[in-house]
Amino acid sequence: MHKAKILLTLFLALAAFGSQGAEIPLQQLPKINDFAIVDSEGEQYIAATNQGLYHSHDHGHSWRAHKTGFGLPAAMVATTPDGSTYAFVVTLGLLKLDGKNNQWKTINNRFGSQVLQQLSATRWTPSRLVARNHYGKLIVSDNYGDDWHKLRGPYHPRTDAEKRGQSIYVEKCQSCHGVDGVGETYTRQVLTDKNYVMAPALDESAHAWHHTDEQLAKSILEGSPRTQRMMAWKDADVSDDDARDLVAYIKSLWTQRELDCQGPKHMECM
Ligand code: HEC
Repeated sequence: MHKAKILLTLFLALAAFGSQGAEIPLQQLPKINDFAIVDSEGEQYIAATNQGLYHSHDHGHSWRAHKTGFGLPAAMVATTPDGSTYAFVVTLGLLKLDGKNNQWKTINNRFGSQVLQQLSATRWTPSRLVARNHYGKLIVSDNYGDDWHKLRGPYHPRTDAEKRGQSIYVEKCQSCHGVDGVGETYTRQVLTDKNYVMAPALDESAHAWHHTDEQLAKSILEGSPRTQRMMAWKDADVSDDDARDLVAYIKSLWTQRELDCQGPKHMECM
């Protein structure tokens, strides 16, 4: 479908929408990606569908689309033992349900290219949330979802070069490539503009490790021929030494597997 047409459809859908959509039967629900029963009586169901979040108050017989995230892919919905309900909607990030007002509020939208597909917590430490992203990796929050980090081994910046690279990264690169190199966060523009080139993840989840150190440094210094957004950073005060430290930082986010398989060797490791 043409981009303008998608936007128009989305706009009309939103315009036709009151605070609640029309009631539809179960058979008409868009494809369900995840599902949760959210009340102790077991009447209220929420479905995360390809077209947003749908709520049912009658054991799943009839459903209404929720206006938050309507038309956008919802990847996950989960209740935790403290009675909280969370959902992940692409472009809106991680949402929490305010049950009294039936409102979804974004609590974090800095997941870069990660889509959360599963979330879990225990009764004993409700502030600690553990989620699985669509790369199959676990990520953790210790403050009810405000900040997330990877559940990983010893991989983080340690050497002086890596730490120096990290500070340049935070200043110049993080706005596009995300916290800890998780990539650019999805927006409506990303989903609807087919010419939009996203800033890829630079950690181990995308293809950065298919390139040698020299190729990575060259991408940084000379930019991308495909998009002006990845500019030639040599024109913006990034020296050869800075590029080398940036590469060191990026590699500090990889695991041993990517380090062993970097560059032309990556074909043997696939
Ligand atoms: C305004 C957004 C933006 C900023 C800021 C930015 N980049 Fe990029 N970067 C991109 C985009 C978009 C691409 C993808 C280009 C393409 O696919 O041709 C990219 C690609 C790259 C690549 C190639 C990755 C691969 O797997 O091929 C590297 C390495 C990279 N950027 C590093 C950096 C570093 C280091 C900085 C900071 C000095 C930085 N970028 C700042 C948008 C940005």
